[in-house]
Amino acid sequence: MKVVIPAAGLGIRFLPATKAQPKEMLPVVDKPAIQYVVEEAVESGMTDIIIITGRGKRAIEDHFDKSYELEHKLREAGNSEALAEVQRIASMADIFYIRQKEQLGLGHAILCAKKHVGNEPFAVMLGDDIVVNERPCIGQLVEVFEQMKASVVGVEQVPKTKLHRYGVIKGRKIKENLYKVEDLVEKPTPAEAPSDMAIIGRYVFQPEIFEFLERIRPGKGGEIQLTDAMKLLCRRKSLYGLKFKGTRFDIGSKADWVKATIALSMQRKDLAEELYPSPQAVLRRSKT
Ligand code: UTP
Repeated sequence: MKVVIPAAGLGIRFLPATKAQPKEMLPVVDKPAIQYVVEEAVESGMTDIIIITGRGKRAIEDHFDKSYELEHKLREAGNSEALAEVQRIASMADIFYIRQKEQLGLGHAILCAKKHVGNEPFAVMLGDDIVVNERPCIGQLVEVFEQMKASVVGVEQVPKTKLHRYGVIKGRKIKENLYKVEDLVEKPTPAEAPSDMAIIGRYVFQPEIFEFLERIRPGKGGEIQLTDAMKLLCRRKSLYGLKFKGTRFDIGSKADWVKATIALSMQRKDLAEELYPSPQAVLRRSKT
């Protein structure tokens, strides 16, 4: 299955850091956000990846490209660990790039991939959403897609005060963690929210989503909204919402980026002792 990673957004919420660099390249500990996303796809067996980019996003292409000079220097220095990591990044997947010439919204970004995807089911993973879990989130969605033979979106329970930032589903629970989506509301007010289940950046679509994307008109903010096409999809065809297992961070938000950095650095043995020393270690250090 092909994977589309939209990464052409302007990253306005993360200015000034995103003025001259893509938000998808913001490091979380020592890896750019988009590398976590690509690794999640690869761990789920998906290695045919289309990244939607735009102006100012060249660093993404360079990151996944071969770096002859760096490899040469690392080889000369005998730094085989760093060399292996640099080579792994450049070879883990077949990555194709499509430029979205105008930032006309997430729906429009996905439409840019239509020709490359063709008439096949495909996955969408937002380039700034990281999900931490042993079993990759997109793999969990693919499993449900294969059972239901219908489009699936990742959903998560969000506090009512934060629902206005998301697309929110109206769903009928059909089994543990799985909802049949009956409607969707984009960025609802508390009164408009049909539930507390918000859509996050992981999807598996039947190719019929392209028809709906072509049919809709610009919505909120003059953008082609993916949520509007998904509304048609759930009414005319089928859409399921999977409450996936894992912790999600929206790297495009400053608070979530800090949370992700703290959470992932805690999992790193090489950093944890220095960053989060045990009381005994602090005592040991103060004596020396
Ligand atoms: P966001 O709304 O998070 O992206 O879009 P943004 O516009 O970069 O963020 P802010 O609000 O300005 O800070 C969700 C995803 O859709 C992509 C973004 O890159 C992000 O992965 N996107 C959005 C596009 O690829 N093209 C667009 O025109 C809009």
